[in-house]
Amino acid sequence: MDADESLIALIYNQEDELTKGESQDLIAMQYTIKTATYVYDALCRLGYQTVMVPVKNNLQEFARELGQYSPHNTFVFNICDGFAGDNFSASLIPQLLNDLGYKHTGSTARAVRLCTDKARSKQRLVKEGVPTPAYQVFKKPARSVKTPLPAIVKPVHEDASIGIDEKAVVTSAMELIERVDYVVSEYDQPALVEEFITGREFAVSMWGNGTMDVMPIAEHDFSATSDPLKSFLTYESKWVEDSFSYNEFKVVCPATLTPEEEEKVKEVAIGAFRAMGLRDFGRVDIRYRDGVPYVIDINEIPDLSPDAGFARASETAGYSYDQMVDRILTLAMHREGWR
Ligand SMILES: Nc1ncnc2c1ncn2[C@@H]1O[C@H](COP(=O)(O)OP(=O)(O)O)[C@@H](O)[C@H]1O
Ligand SMILES: [Mg+2]
Repeated sequence: MDADESLIALIYNQEDELTKGESQDLIAMQYTIKTATYVYDALCRLGYQTVMVPVKNNLQEFARELGQYSPHNTFVFNICDGFAGDNFSASLIPQLLNDLGYKHTGSTARAVRLCTDKARSKQRLVKEGVPTPAYQVFKKPARSVKTPLPAIVKPVHEDASIGIDEKAVVTSAMELIERVDYVVSEYDQPALVEEFITGREFAVSMWGNGTMDVMPIAEHDFSATSDPLKSFLTYESKWVEDSFSYNEFKVVCPATLTPEEEEKVKEVAIGAFRAMGLRDFGRVDIRYRDGVPYVIDINEIPDLSPDAGFARASETAGYSYDQMVDRILTLAMHREGWR
């Protein structure tokens, strides 16, 4: 390669074992490997000279491998959402890239740290006046329960609905205490208990820096069940291909909303993106009840596979998969003043 020629290093996590949780959680963790091949193929088709650099269990080993490529002509496309079985470790990657002088797509270590801690994210949303459901955080099995019931109990540092099954929604203090106990012991981290918002669920994908470009809003259609307490996205509904909810819960994009509702949902989603200090792209998950969009989750590196929400929304907005990948990269390059 010519010394001046620009290179893209696609970095992603390649996980081979679990350190906690349920054995099936590995399906979600290993999905990033598949996503990486889609993004890699798109970058190659777009004409970028691209190398794949996996993050395995060891950060030094990763730094050595990346070190073969100079930060002066290598721009990093980062889709590493944690490594060594630990989602919360995701921020160590932008931190390391920054320390080594690499420019990269997506958010800074600080923003990633915030987003991979649901408790701190909530604190920030509340501080910035972005609507989010009432909550409590439990580091140990629960004592005094103040959160309105029904509630949902989630591990603070996971994503992809890891640790969320039908028992995550609790309707009594007793159930809540039991579920907190499960999350704390099985996932080895605090539990976030949040008021369960019965109502519609939207995913809002957006990109930009400064002025945000919000893509068509997607809605999760739970009409296959008549039970509002089962109308939510469990691990099974996202990852277990032969399950009822995986097959019967559908996505509608664009969602049917009045212009006023759409405006409200977009405004809250942009508010969440900004409150977290995200860059380039992201997806905000919202539950909608009585005219109020409540932010439940902010995805700083949303799943970029062709069948996931971000690509679906950008396709509805008129971007092919390759154009989507190119736009994310170009936004980051412009932000960095990359030649
Ligand atoms: N407060 C809530 N009210 C209703 N449903 C919720 C709430 N929090 C989470 N859920 C459901 O659980 C799913 C996963 O929760 P989320 O916070 O998005 O975690 P993850 O980071 O694992 O995606 C959501 O897509 C939604 O269906
Ligand atoms: Mg989510």
